[in-house]
Amino acid sequence: MGFIRLNEQGLKVFYQGNPWLYWGSVAEAEAEEGALVRILDPKDKLIGWALYQGESSGLSAVVLSKEPASPNENEWRTRLQICWEYRQQLPITQWTNAYRVVFAEADNLPGLIIDHYNDTAVVQFHLKGLQNLLLSPLTSFLKEKGIKNLIWKQETTTEILFGKLQNPTFYEKDLSFVADIQQGQKTGFYLDQRYNRLLLRSWVKDKVVLNLFSYTGAFSLHALKAGAKKVISVDSSQRALTLLEEQLKINHLDKSRHESVQSKVFPFLQSCDETFDVIIVDPPAFTKHRSTVPQAQHAYKKLNRLALERLKKGGIMMTFSCSRPITLEIFQQLLKEASRQGRHSIQILQWLQQDVDHPIVFNFPPSFYLKGALLRKV
Ligand SMILES: C[S@@+](CC[C@H](N)C(=O)[O-])C[C@H]1O[C@@H](n2cnc3c(N)ncnc32)[C@H](O)[C@@H]1O
Repeated sequence: MGFIRLNEQGLKVFYQGNPWLYWGSVAEAEAEEGALVRILDPKDKLIGWALYQGESSGLSAVVLSKEPASPNENEWRTRLQICWEYRQQLPITQWTNAYRVVFAEADNLPGLIIDHYNDTAVVQFHLKGLQNLLLSPLTSFLKEKGIKNLIWKQETTTEILFGKLQNPTFYEKDLSFVADIQQGQKTGFYLDQRYNRLLLRSWVKDKVVLNLFSYTGAFSLHALKAGAKKVISVDSSQRALTLLEEQLKINHLDKSRHESVQSKVFPFLQSCDETFDVIIVDPPAFTKHRSTVPQAQHAYKKLNRLALERLKKGGIMMTFSCSRPITLEIFQQLLKEASRQGRHSIQILQWLQQDVDHPIVFNFPPSFYLKGALLRKV
C-alpha cells in the first residue's frame, strides 16, 4: 500500500479542509498513479486516505477521508445517499426532472460528477483512479434508486454501464429539452444555469433578445416561451444550433421569432450594427489556470464592452464567467472596467451564480465557479 507523508504546510492544508494536496504539501510519496494511499503526518501517524495523482500531475493527491480506516463501499454509499436525499428535497424537483446529483468536492465526493436527466444518469470521474473505487458502489446505488440508464462520459468516448444510450429528454418548467450526452458539452446540458434562465423569463416579454454563446438554446427557449418578440442565438457550433432548432420543434415554438447564427461571437459583435433589449453573454471558460488570468480578464473585458455597445439604453444584460480562477472580485472589477472603457453607465441589479444543485463550499474555492451579473444600461 502506497503512502504520502505530509510536511507541516501539508498538515495545515489537510486540517483546513481543502482536499487538494499540491506537491508543496508533500515531504515524501511512494505510490502508483491513481492508487488509494495512506496519508501520514510528518511523524508518520496515519491520518487519512487519498487518491495519488502521480508525479506528472501538478496535484500530488486528493484527500478522500480523514479517518484511519480506509473508505469502503459502505462509506461511498453513505456519501451518495446524502447527496441523493438533498436533491430529492430541493424545491426545483417540483418543476424539473434534471439536476446534478453529485458535485464533486462540494459534495464530499472529490472528482465525481453525476447528472440526472429523467431516467438517465451520466457520470464523470475527474481524478486518476477514481473509477476503480466508485464504479461498483455508484452503479448498484443508482440502479436501486430506479435509474434506467447509466452512462460514463469520458473525454472522447462514452460507455454504457447499464441500460441504453440515447439522448434523454427532460422537462424544465413548461419546456422539454434534450441532453446531448455523446457529443455535447459537460454531461450534455448546462444544468447550472437553471435559476438564471428562469430569472431571464421575467425580463423578456415583447423584447428583442440576443443570446451569445447559446449552445443548444436553453436561454433562448425560455425567452421565447416567456413572450420575447424575437430571439437571436449565436454559437460557433453548428451541432448545438441544430439541436436548438429541434428543441424549438419539440416545444411547438414559433420558428419565425427565432434566428440561429453560426458564428464566433467576437466577429459577430464587431460587425453587428443592431441594438437589443436583452443580451445574454455566457462564454466558455477563458482560463483554467491562474497563470492565464490576465489574458482571460482582457478577453472578458473586451467581450462585455462589445456586448454593452449592442445593448439599448434601459436594456438588460446577463453576463457570466465560468472560469474557476476568475474570482468574484476579479469578475466585478472587469465589469467595472469594461463599462468605464466603453463609457457605458450600468446598474448592477443582481449578482448571479450556479444553481442550488451545484453547492459552494468555503474549503474548496473552485466550487464557486459560475459568477454572473444581471445589469441594466442607463
Ligand atoms: C458555456 S457554453 C453556453 C451554455 C448556454 N448558455 C446554456 O445555458 O446552455 C459556451 C458555448 O460557447 C460556444 N463557443 C465557444 N467559443 C465560441 C466563440 N468564440 N464564439 C461563439 N460560440 C463559442 C460553445 O460552442 C458553447 O456552446
